[in-house]
Amino acid sequence: MNRIFTSILTVILTIVLAGCGGSVNRETDKFSGSIPSPAQAAAPEENIPDTAPPEGFVLIHGGTFQMGNLETEAWRVEDETAHTVTIGDFYIGQYEVTQEEYQAVTGENPSAFSFSVANLPVENISWMDAIRYCNARSLLEGLIPVYTVDGQTVSWDRSANGYRLPTETEWEYACRAGTDTPFNTETSISADEANYWGHYPYLIEDNYFTQGNLETKPGVYRETTIAVGSFQPNAWGLYDMHGNVGEWVWDWYGSYETSEQTDPTGPVSGTLRVNRGGGWNDFAKNLRSAYRATLPQDSSSFNLGMRLVRNVETGRGNVESSAIQLDGQSGGNVLIAYFSWGGNTRGIAEEIQNQIGADLFEIELVTPYSTNYNTVLEQAQQDQNEQARPELSTHVEDMSQYDTILLGYPNWWASIPMPIASFLEEYDFSGKTIVPFCSHGGGRFGQSLTAITKLAPDAVLGEGLAVSYSGGSDLSSNIAVWLEENNISTT
Ligand SMILES: Cc1cc2nc3c(=O)[nH]c(=O)nc-3n(C[C@H](O)[C@H](O)[C@H](O)COP(=O)(O)O)c2cc1C
Repeated sequence: MNRIFTSILTVILTIVLAGCGGSVNRETDKFSGSIPSPAQAAAPEENIPDTAPPEGFVLIHGGTFQMGNLETEAWRVEDETAHTVTIGDFYIGQYEVTQEEYQAVTGENPSAFSFSVANLPVENISWMDAIRYCNARSLLEGLIPVYTVDGQTVSWDRSANGYRLPTETEWEYACRAGTDTPFNTETSISADEANYWGHYPYLIEDNYFTQGNLETKPGVYRETTIAVGSFQPNAWGLYDMHGNVGEWVWDWYGSYETSEQTDPTGPVSGTLRVNRGGGWNDFAKNLRSAYRATLPQDSSSFNLGMRLVRNVETGRGNVESSAIQLDGQSGGNVLIAYFSWGGNTRGIAEEIQNQIGADLFEIELVTPYSTNYNTVLEQAQQDQNEQARPELSTHVEDMSQYDTILLGYPNWWASIPMPIASFLEEYDFSGKTIVPFCSHGGGRFGQSLTAITKLAPDAVLGEGLAVSYSGGSDLSSNIAVWLEENNISTT
C-alpha cells in the first residue's frame, strides 16, 4: 500500500517538475477566516512587566540564544553562521499583518490575493511600504512613529513607542521559541502545520525517488495565502512564523558577526533587506528558522508580507540605515544571457531577441547535465545542496560593454540552476542592471531572486518575468509588456 502511495506521489511530483502540461489541482481549503482568540504565550522567563502586551501582541522575554545553525543542518546556506546573541524583551504581533489592517491605515490593498476571505495577510508590499505602514499606524493610534524616512535612508528612533519591524535577531528568536531545530515544529514541518508548497516537504530533494524515507510526506499545496492563524501557534503563541507569507525584518543583509552580540541591528548600509519565514509558494527548506531571504527594499512579492513589533522598554539612540545607491538603470546596451536544459528558456530568450535585437548568449557547461530527466533531477539538487559552481564552457568576451543583462534560467528546485551562480560569480555586475526571466513549472521565481541578489548584490534588480514552461500563445505579448516595464526598447 505504502509503495502504491509513494508511486502516486512520485508521478504527481514528476508532472509538476517535468512540465508535461500537468497542473496542480487547486485545493479548496475551508478556513473559518476568523482569528483565534489570543493564546497565552509561554514567556521564557518569569519577571513579566506590569504593562499588558498591546492587543494582538505577545510579550517575548529576552535571553541568549544561538542564531543561525551549525553545519550539520540539511539545506543550510553558508550565510546562516551560528553565533550567540543576547536580546532584550519585546512585544511581537501574534499574527502577520492582515489586508484589513493594512487597508484601514493606508486606504490601499496592494495584495495579489485580495478575494473575499477574511484575515489574509497583506503581501506584495515592499520594505519601504512596511516602514511607512508602521509609522502611519503609530500616528493613527497616538503613538510616536519610530522611523524617519529621507528618500532611501531610514533612521530608527529606539526611544519611540510606535510600531516597527522586528530585527532579524528578534524574528529568529521569536520564531524558534526555544527550539534549535530546523523548524519550530522540530525536525520537519507538514502542510497541516504551515501554509507552503506542501508537495515539497523538508528533504524531498534528496528523497525524491525514495519518499518512504521522509519524516513528513508531501501534503497539500494551497496555491494561495490563507487566513492568518489557521494552524497551531509556536510555543510562544505566534502564528505562521513558518509559511503563509515571508516577513520583512529591519536588517540589511550581510554576513553575521561571529563574536557574541547584544541586540544587533544589522549592517548600517546595504543593498538588500532580509525577509524571513518563507511563504505559501516556498519549499519547506526555505521555511527554516535560520533561512535568510533577500530582496531590494523597493521590491515586493506575492509571497512576502510583515509582522509588527513594539518596544517593551524605551530604547536609546538612533539606528541609522542608508541604502547604498546603485547606479544601474534599465536600458542602454543589452545582453540576453540564458541557461536552458530542456529548451523552454532558450525559446523565451530567442523571442526576446526577436523583439529587441540584442546580443544573445547561451551559458553552457564543460560537462553538461544528463539528458535523462530523472538523472538531471538528482544532479541539480545535489549541485544546489553543495552550492556547486559547474565550470562554464562559454564566456562573454567583454561584459563591460553591457548595461543591462536579461538573465534567463529554468526554476530548478525552487531556485537558480547552479550554472547561473557560476555565471554571476564570473563577472563584475556593479553599475549594471540584471533583469531576470524564469521558466518554471508552477513555482514562478521560487527563491531565485534571493539567490541572484546575494550573488550580485551590487547590481540593480529589474522587474522579473516568470513564464510557465514555454510561455504558450501569450509569450510574445507578455514579453513586450515586460520589456516596456523595464524601459527596454524594442526594434
Ligand atoms: C532539475 C529540475 C528541477 C526543477 N525544479 C522545479 C521547481 O522547483 N519548480 C518549478 O516550478 N519547476 C521546476 N522544474 C521545471 C522547470 O522549471 C520547467 O520545466 C522549465 O520550463 C524548464 O526550462 P528549460 O526547458 O529551459 O530547461 C524543474 C525541472 C528540472 C529539470
